This record gives sequence, C-alpha cells and structure tokens, in this order.
Amino acid sequence: MTQDAWRSRTGFILAALGSAIGLGNIWRFPYMAYRNGGGAFLIPYLISVAGIGMALMMAELAVGHRFRASQPQAFHRGNKSWEIAGWWAVSVGMLGVTLYYCVVIGWTINFFFYSLPLSWEPNPGDFFFKSFLGLSKAPTQIGGIRWSIVLSTAFVWVACWQIVSRGIASGIEVALKIMMPLMIVLLLTLMVWSFFLPGSAAGLWAYLKPDFSKLLEPRVWIDAVGQTFFSLSLGFGIIVAYARYLPEDANLTADARWIVFGDTLFAVAAGVVVFSTMGFMAQLQGLPIDKVMKSGPGLVFVAFPQAISSLPGMRPAFGALFFLSLFLAGLSSALSLIEALASSLTDKFEAPRSRIVAIICLAGFFGSLMFTTGSGLYWLDIVDHHVTQYGLVLSGFLVSVFASWILGRSELLDHLGGNHDSLIGRLWIWLLRYLIPLVLAALFVWSLITDLTKAYEGYPVPMLIVLGGGWLAAMGAIAYWVCLQKWRSGPEG
Ligand code: ALA
Repeated sequence: MTQDAWRSRTGFILAALGSAIGLGNIWRFPYMAYRNGGGAFLIPYLISVAGIGMALMMAELAVGHRFRASQPQAFHRGNKSWEIAGWWAVSVGMLGVTLYYCVVIGWTINFFFYSLPLSWEPNPGDFFFKSFLGLSKAPTQIGGIRWSIVLSTAFVWVACWQIVSRGIASGIEVALKIMMPLMIVLLLTLMVWSFFLPGSAAGLWAYLKPDFSKLLEPRVWIDAVGQTFFSLSLGFGIIVAYARYLPEDANLTADARWIVFGDTLFAVAAGVVVFSTMGFMAQLQGLPIDKVMKSGPGLVFVAFPQAISSLPGMRPAFGALFFLSLFLAGLSSALSLIEALASSLTDKFEAPRSRIVAIICLAGFFGSLMFTTGSGLYWLDIVDHHVTQYGLVLSGFLVSVFASWILGRSELLDHLGGNHDSLIGRLWIWLLRYLIPLVLAALFVWSLITDLTKAYEGYPVPMLIVLGGGWLAAMGAIAYWVCLQKWRSGPEG
C-alpha cells in the first residue's frame, strides 16, 4: 500500500508545515487570543505547545513511521481493539473540521475578489454578516443557501480532489512546494507592512503584554489546548498518514521540531499582523483596541476589510495579499485533512485512491452545504467549539495512551532515534504516560462542567447539547460503523 513516498525531506517538511499552518493560525488564533484577553493567551498557548504539542507530534510521527499505515490501520496493528480510536481521529478531521473548513477557504476566495473594488464599503460588518452570509436569527433558522459561497466552496473541493487524487509525491508534495514559499513571502510582506502602520505599536503591546492573572482561568487553558491540537494538526490522523511515507532513516525528532517551531512562529507572526492592524484601527477611530476588534469567527473577515478601507493607499493590494495568503494556508491544510481520511479508507477497502478521493470530495461538498446557509456561521461556531474541546482532546488522549501504554516502552523511542535512558527520552514517556492524559482528561471534564453551567456564546444549553453533542455522536457512530467493516486484505495489508 505504501509505494508512494516523499521525494525529499524538504518536501515532507513543507507538506507537514503546510498542514499545520492554516486557517487555524491566521483566522482562528487571533479570535481565540482576543476572546481570552489578547496577549494573555500567548503564554498558555506556548506552554501547551511545548508541553503537549511537541510530545504528541513526536508520538504521531513515530506511530506513522513504525507501522507505515494510516492511523486506523496503525492502531489496529498495535492492538486490534484500538482501531476505533484511529477512525475517531479521521472522523473528527473530516466531519468535525473539513466540512466547514472548506467553506471558510471559500470565503477567502470571495473576499479576494471583494478586495479589488472594496465591495465591503461603507460598512464591513453589515457586508459580512448581512449581505455576504445572510446570517439568520438563530442556528435553528436555516435560511437560504448562499450561492456565491456554494460556488467558491465547490472550487475548493475540486482543487482538493485534483491534488489529493494525484497522490503524495506528484500531488500534495508538488502543490506544497509552490504554495508554501508563496504563502510565507505574502505573510512576511504583510507583517512588515502592518508593522509600519501608525498605531501598530499599541496593537502589538495589547498582543504581547503578559497578563498572568488569566493563567488562573480554566477557559483560557481549554482554548489554548484546543488551539494547539487544531493548529499543529494533531488528533486528526494527519501526521500519522504523512509519516508513513518517510524513509527508514528519517530523523523524526528533528522533523517534529521543525513542524512545531515553524507553525508556532507562523501563528505568532499572524498575530502580529492582526494586532498591529487593530492598533492602526484603534488610533484611527480614537478607541481602545478591544473596542475595534470583533469577536468570533467573523474577526478577520470584518476587522481586516475595515482596516484595509482605512489605509492611505494600495488598499486593494493589501486586501488581495491578505486573502490570498489565507486561501493558500487553508488549502494546504485541507489537502492534509482529506489525505488522512483517503489513506485510511484506501487501507481498509483496498479501492483505488482516485475513486476514494473522488467520493470523499463529492460527499464532502454536499456535507459542506450546511455551512453555506444563512445559519452556517452559527453551526460552524458550535461544531468547531465541540469538536476542538471534546473531539480533538479525546483524540489526543487516545494517541497518548496508545503510544505510551499500549505499545511497548521502547517501541516508538527506537523510531525517534532516542536513547531510552536519556533525560529527553524519559521525559517524553513520562509526559505521554501521565501528564498529558491527566491534563487532557481534566480539561475534558472542565469543558463539560463549563458548558453545562454557562451557555457557550449565549446559545441555549439544550440547543448546544442537541447540535454539538449530536454532531459528536454522529461522528462517533460513523467511526464505529467504518470500524466494523472488514479489511479487504487484512489489516496487515
Ligand atoms: N492545522 C490546520 C490549521 O491550523 C488545520 O488550520
């Protein structure tokens, strides 16, 4: 099954980085940071990346490399009854994230074109929520389909289908070698540009100013850990699926460092762009920063157009650059989310990749339609909240237990080229065995208590239980159903 392979280490690192760096860094990170007190979010986020993200990244790389299989097959090979945990991961990726993720990438295409004539003027907020999304009054009021969003979403799914069906070396690796350098150049250009905007210093200060009192709030930690998984592409089966194609002598520990460091740097840099621009807006309007920022998933689609309209010149260029970099970041991650599922289904059903990918993308497009309606933004918010806080946290918990308790103590360390008695080796095992499962279990319970006692974003709690809980239950049921199906040529493939 694994004839395909990365052509070079650079190709693999670019692809893994492309997966990690995504909408999570530019679109999700800023609104998570904003919700949790701006710069106050940075400290728990960095602690969570260093303490949980790095150890799990190494574990997922090692599992893929050790079993040379997708996550469900790898888990099955490690211990038959753990296959379901592999399906849970890819189900979380596909049903919990990719369906809405491709819609948000679609928005970036729409906004790329809107930025040329600055269509959002005079009121970017009204434009985004009313004219563009046609936002209904409540999640239960579905509202009509927004055809401009359907069209751009269809484009995204077709692009994913075309690239992923070509495989690892000729599809994903080639695409990422073009997309990643372009995206990095675009973001750097934006960063320098936003840095010199008048008022940017106040924005940066709001972003970087530490606020240690926030460290006592559980909500901040829950969001920081959820964001770590989302941003590093952990818990989706992606890293396992990518690592299976690495050569025997790959240096997994160094690769993990590259991915984690690169992604975090990018998230911090994207935060610089967003907060500098907000500083500029604040100065222009004579308001404090927290009054000019819009909360929630609409943040970059409202605040950026607003800021772009206020620039002294070259406004279409700034807008086009920003939305193009969002598009590239999103697409490179969507490819990996689809690859994780495609490689799992190909392993299980032994069907040709082209057919599997075509089915996934067609079904995915129809699944995305829910998020292109007038209530799409509410659904996105509710699904994203439940999937990250519960789905991903559970998935990370399972990876950590599988890697440290189910597999032999040295089984993965050998693949990481580690010395079992070294401090790092022992620390890694200790984190995976005790600290990470404990922290994740505590956060899971904490989230549950918080959600049951305080309605998330003011939605009625029963509605959250039905929509969010129902979504998680559906993902679990689908994962279970696929798990029950027979391996066409045995899990040893
Ligand atoms: N890791 C991807 C992102 O951050 C999913 O958007």
